[in-house]
Amino acid sequence: MFHETLDSFPKDFLWGAASAAYQIEGAFDADGKGPSIWDEFTKIPEKTFEGTNGDVAIDHYHRYKEDVKLMAGMGLKAYRFSVSWSRILPEGEGEVNEAGLQFYEDLVDELIKNGVEPVLTLYHWDLPLALQEKYNGWESRETIRAFKQYCELLFERLGKKVTYWVTFNEQNVFTSMGYRWESHPPNVSDTKRLFEANHIINLANAEAINLFKEMVPEGKIGPSFGYGPVYPLTSDPSDVLAAENAHDFNNAWWLDIYCKGKYPVTTFNQLKRMGIAPTVLPEDEELLKSAKPDFLGINYYHGGTVKQNKLENPTENEETNKQFSSTDPYLMQPKDEQSQSPEVPMFQSAENPYLEKTDWGWEIDPVGFRVALRQVFARYDLPLFVTENGLGALDELTEEEEIHDDYRIQYLENHISEMKKAISDGVDMIGYCAWSFTDLLSWLNGYKKRYGFVYVNRTETDEKDMRRIPKKSFYWYKELIENNGQNI
Ligand code: NOJ
Repeated sequence: MFHETLDSFPKDFLWGAASAAYQIEGAFDADGKGPSIWDEFTKIPEKTFEGTNGDVAIDHYHRYKEDVKLMAGMGLKAYRFSVSWSRILPEGEGEVNEAGLQFYEDLVDELIKNGVEPVLTLYHWDLPLALQEKYNGWESRETIRAFKQYCELLFERLGKKVTYWVTFNEQNVFTSMGYRWESHPPNVSDTKRLFEANHIINLANAEAINLFKEMVPEGKIGPSFGYGPVYPLTSDPSDVLAAENAHDFNNAWWLDIYCKGKYPVTTFNQLKRMGIAPTVLPEDEELLKSAKPDFLGINYYHGGTVKQNKLENPTENEETNKQFSSTDPYLMQPKDEQSQSPEVPMFQSAENPYLEKTDWGWEIDPVGFRVALRQVFARYDLPLFVTENGLGALDELTEEEEIHDDYRIQYLENHISEMKKAISDGVDMIGYCAWSFTDLLSWLNGYKKRYGFVYVNRTETDEKDMRRIPKKSFYWYKELIENNGQNI
């Protein structure tokens, strides 16, 4: 079968924007909600910028109607949000909190009433704290059982209203940050535990997909993955090999499991040699192979550049690059002294001389977006849904109460234009959700780093009035949606 080639966006293309529960809702203990691991983690000194947390966030829980009204005013076709597991199951399992379920049903109804397609993420990082304490969270198969109960409740309640479902958001990021870099909960640095927990999550992902197919046969489900293409620093075959290794380690490690039900063999063997490969039971393989997603969600921010790891060539004397910190979640191998750790000797991250960076040092690489979409589509042959892409910046509110975020417009325009080319190349795309609809809490960077189309008037310490003010990019995106991206 050949795919139809389009030179414009499909008529029913879902132009959207995204968010996540912990980053917007606030109301951290309202109406019976239980605590999540993020409620606890953000209270540990020095973990987040100026100790910011999501206790109040942007108070979306109480203002969701106002936010949906803004979406409707923008003509948004889709809105991606996540459900807070502990709002529905305060203990992570067992007793159900009806008020929590009702909140999400009300939100979904409000979206549908306003012509906005809901895209529901089941897990965007806020595991119920009770499961972490009771079972050690994702390190135990008990948590899979709890996750299934949680999914079942949502499939039952919202399966008829919501078509698009995302299982896990950026499993690659939250597992590496949580089990390797100690910059997300559960605040661990242990690669053995990283790969074990990751394996358990793969099983949970497969269970959720299989359950969904039984309960919501008309719906579509898939994971959202933080994908970045990997470039070799030079054409030296050793660098090219390092890029292959890094691709397997950073991307295929997850995508092969999601789509083929098995780990890439080279990385698996490498981890085995290092004594950190996950324990895979025979029944796991069967389960993983049985669960095929309907689409792949792609979160795209940037890729990475690598070279041969100097540990494999100890005579080499190179400068290490210390300007990157391990808080950039898309680099499995930070460009600092840690990259010389023997933990991952198959490649070493390098500086790409061709790319500019954002205020937070993230590379800006729209062409890499086209590369990413083509690579994923060619390798896995599933429709793609861009579930995140956007620019974090320091926005300024003028005295006239305006935000002139031309840099964001430029960023989005360049990326959407490359996505359009990918569609012409033949990539099958469902939609594009910019990150994010409103400004929201950045997990580690507080409220300074803003991504939204809608400015929210709050600082790290001052919640002020939470006024919503559409930015210049809001009007730009509105027009783009009206024209279905024709002018890009
Ligand atoms: C990806 C995550 O899914 C989202 O929660 C986060 O805020 C953005 N990246 C920006 O860092």
